Amino acid sequence: MDLLEMLKHRRSVREYTGAPIPKEQLEKILAAGLLSPSGRSRKPWELVIVQNRDMLKELVKCREGAANMLEKAGCAILVFADPEKTDVWTEDCSIVMSNMHLMADSLGLGSCWIQGRLRKAQNSMTTEEFCRQLLQVPKRYQLEAILSVGVTEKHPDPHSLEEAELNKVHNEIWEQ
Ligand SMILES: Cc1cc2nc3c(=O)[nH]c(=O)nc-3n(C[C@H](O)[C@H](O)[C@H](O)COP(=O)(O)O)c2cc1C
Repeated sequence: MDLLEMLKHRRSVREYTGAPIPKEQLEKILAAGLLSPSGRSRKPWELVIVQNRDMLKELVKCREGAANMLEKAGCAILVFADPEKTDVWTEDCSIVMSNMHLMADSLGLGSCWIQGRLRKAQNSMTTEEFCRQLLQVPKRYQLEAILSVGVTEKHPDPHSLEEAELNKVHNEIWEQ
């Protein structure tokens, strides 16, 4: 499959069977993230993998309704960064998230981005504080996002090329 076909097939998958993720597949997803480019090659990221079912259920509470898919996920991959390493850590970590998301889809697994930065947990904490406390992450690390990964129960239909909004492309000048 060429890359454009993969990009069309990629969807946010939120329905999983609850089965664990095979070790070799998880390793490929992590490698896809860790091979990402980063500003000045600073690689500010740190990844925390959660596979324990009780912990996954607890992690659902990191958001007010936007992380329910973790209940039946095979794992969660939390992407933290050390902002002292670079001022473009959010960009760097977004690429890590995106590459892992794509890798999961290419392996036939479902995954979904769960926003961590600038979001609130079900208690009065921020999503970042909640995750840091639950997973004992040192204070200097900030949370970008969480990737839920699961064995797909239901994959939404692929995107079509017609959905690409070509009117957002401006040739030479921003003509109306
Ligand atoms: C920055 C970002 C934050 C997102 N946050 C969440 C989230 O917190 N929970 C969720 O279920 N989906 C989240 N998504 C997934 C989007 O809802 C999804 O990409 C969008 O609806 C388009 O659907 P598609 O990915 O299937 O093409 C996020 C996606 C991005 C890129």
